Amino acid sequence: MIMQGNTVLIVGGTSGIGRALAESFYDLGNTVIVAGRKVDLIAQMRLARPGIRGLELDLNQEGAMARLSSSLENEFPDVNVLIANAGIMKSEDLLDEAHDISVAEGIINTNVLGVLRTVGAALPTLKRRKSTIIITTSSLAFIPRANFPSYCASKAFLHSWIQSLRYQLRDLDIEVLELAPPYVRTQLTGPHQSEDPRAMPLADFVHETIEKLANSDHENGEIIVERVRNDREAELNGRYAEAFNTINPQ
Ligand SMILES: NC(=O)c1ccc[n+]([C@@H]2O[C@H](COP(=O)([O-])OP(=O)(O)OC[C@H]3O[C@@H](n4cnc5c(N)ncnc54)[C@H](OP(=O)(O)O)[C@@H]3O)[C@@H](O)[C@H]2O)c1
Repeated sequence: MIMQGNTVLIVGGTSGIGRALAESFYDLGNTVIVAGRKVDLIAQMRLARPGIRGLELDLNQEGAMARLSSSLENEFPDVNVLIANAGIMKSEDLLDEAHDISVAEGIINTNVLGVLRTVGAALPTLKRRKSTIIITTSSLAFIPRANFPSYCASKAFLHSWIQSLRYQLRDLDIEVLELAPPYVRTQLTGPHQSEDPRAMPLADFVHETIEKLANSDHENGEIIVERVRNDREAELNGRYAEAFNTINPQ
C-alpha cells in the first residue's frame, strides 16, 4: 500500500501493537485517529504527537457502533485505512469447576463481535474510495495454545471471516489484509509480557510489518513476519502435530 497521505483509523490503538503502528503511520506522514477506551493513553500519545486524533470507544458498550459510524460520517469522513486491532487475551482452565463462562463471552464479544462491529461501521466510509482494511489476528489462529482456548478460537474465527470479507469485497477497491503477530512484547496478558525475552520486541515487529506493507509483501493478504512463518506453514508442511506439541508441552 502507499504509506503516506492516508487517513488511518486504528481501533485498539492506545497501547502495544496498535499504538506503535499509530505512531509509525503518523511519523510516515498520515493522518491518524486512535480509538480505544483509555482516554488518558490517547492524551499521552498526543503529548508527543499533537496531530494524532483520538476517539473514545468501548466496542462492548451499547451504542458504540452507532457512535463510531456517526464519528466517521461527521468527523473523519476521509478514513481510507482501517486497522481493527482491539483484542483481549485471558487464560481459561476448562477443568476448573469454578470456570466462569463470562471470560469466554468477554473474549468473543471484544475479539470477534468487536471486529465485526468495527468493520460494519467503517465499510460505508471505506467504500467511497480506494481503501485498506487490516485486521489483527494471531499466530495462535493457526496453532492454538491450549490454556487460551477462547482467545485462540476467536483469532481462528477472524482468520476465516477475513477470507469471506475479502471475497465479498472483491469488486470494490478495498484491500483486506490479515496481520497475524507472533508473541510480542506488549502488556496483552499483563506487565510481565513486555519484559519477556521470548517475545518479539515490539519495535522489531512493527518495523517488519511496516516494511511488508510498504512492499506489498503479503501473499494471500496475510502479513506474516518471519517469526510466524513456521507456525503458519506447519499444517501445509505436515508438521502440525510437532508445532502443536512445541506450544503445548505434555
Ligand atoms: N502481543 C502479542 O503477543 C500478540 C500476539 C498476537 C496477536 N496480538 C493481537 O494484537 C492486538 C493488540 O494487542 P497488544 O498485544 O498490543 O495488547 P494491548 O496493548 O493490550 O492492546 C489491546 C488494544 O485493544 C484495545 N481494546 C481492548 N478492548 C477494547 C474495547 N472493549 N473497546 C475498544 N478497544 C479495546 C485496547 O485499548 P483500551 O484499553 O484503551 O480500550 C488496546 O488499544 C490484539 O488484537 C491481540 O490479540 C497480540
